[in-house]
Amino acid sequence: MAISIVDHLDQLAGKTCLIRVDFNCPLADGRVTDNTRVDRVLPGLKRLAEAGAGLILISHLGRPKGKVVPAFSLAPVCDYLSETLGYVVPLVPLDKAGYRPAAGQMMMLENLRFWPEEEANDEQFAKKLAALADLYVNDAFSCAHRAHASTYAVAQKLPCFVGPVMATELDALSAALNKPQRPVAAMIGGAKVSTKLAVLTNLIEKVDILFLGGGMANTFLAAKGVYMGASLMEPELVETAAGILLKAEQLGCRLMLPEDGLAATALSLDVPHRKILNRDISASEMMLDIGPKAIDSYKQALEEVRTVLWNGPMGAFEVSPFDTATVTLAQTVAEATEAGRIISVAGGGDTVAALNHAAVAEKFSYVSLAGGAFLEYIEGKTLPGVAVLSA
Ligand code: 3PG
Ligand code: MG
Repeated sequence: MAISIVDHLDQLAGKTCLIRVDFNCPLADGRVTDNTRVDRVLPGLKRLAEAGAGLILISHLGRPKGKVVPAFSLAPVCDYLSETLGYVVPLVPLDKAGYRPAAGQMMMLENLRFWPEEEANDEQFAKKLAALADLYVNDAFSCAHRAHASTYAVAQKLPCFVGPVMATELDALSAALNKPQRPVAAMIGGAKVSTKLAVLTNLIEKVDILFLGGGMANTFLAAKGVYMGASLMEPELVETAAGILLKAEQLGCRLMLPEDGLAATALSLDVPHRKILNRDISASEMMLDIGPKAIDSYKQALEEVRTVLWNGPMGAFEVSPFDTATVTLAQTVAEATEAGRIISVAGGGDTVAALNHAAVAEKFSYVSLAGGAFLEYIEGKTLPGVAVLSA
């Protein structure tokens, strides 16, 4: 079992702690445009610092491919951190990082992906990182699907711990997937079946109800012989989708597909659209959201559910009114969560943006900021960055 650092704060006094965070934040004009990832880990970092540790924060930003690319400097993130903390957090390149921060202080290493050894999970590079500190904490669940020097090899060279946020994240995911209160449902949306095949295959074995929406639902409807007009679809995956439908039935997983949708001939603001049953779609129309009947039947089925795992929007939520199903169903889940009736866990890619758009992210039991790592977790894969902490 991996050990959580919050259970061992007493070990931190006078120690230097190397802490892997995910400060891969979006930037524009040299400023961080979304601080969520920093804000999420900051209270935990403060707790470690208050326990008397000096913290060396390590992260990557973007994909500079082993070269020093100034546009991928962590300087804007470091600036934000300094402003928030009220003191200057030094930003130091690894090869200049010869000193240790004082107890209660933080420093940050420059983007580790400026060195090719980081992504190569290089042993010598990991040794250099390990030499800087007394112990290692990983608080970057969103990077746990990467076996890189800062997420993997270094954990084998120091006493290693699960960080405060990662601990909460693993608990939330496990509560949704490993020992959920039943019935447990997954709401899976997004454009394509192809990017979520492994997710779907794993989930039909784990959940009682699988709600499908977004473009990927069209491929499943096509697999049931429904004509989908000009809707986004993956014809090459129709047979695979049919296989998943069959398997779900054999496993007793109720797979829900929309019976209607909002159709239009283009995806743009103010485009004329109509609410139609799937069978009424014309050759030039596409389904851009699931329709009112589907929303009603999904809502009804949600009434009996006790745990929901959400990934992906139900429609083209970036353009109104095709955000209707995503917003309505997200509100339904949020209200049930607030009422204490369900546990709701969401994450992955567009999902946080969709839930923020619906103004309900705060109301879910847990919203993961992880993209790829969240998907790999719900695919049932072992995440190297998590596994190494208990090895
Ligand atoms: C993310 O934003 O998903 C993580 O920071 C991982 O980034 P990566 O996909 O470049 O490894
Ligand atoms: Mg990613």
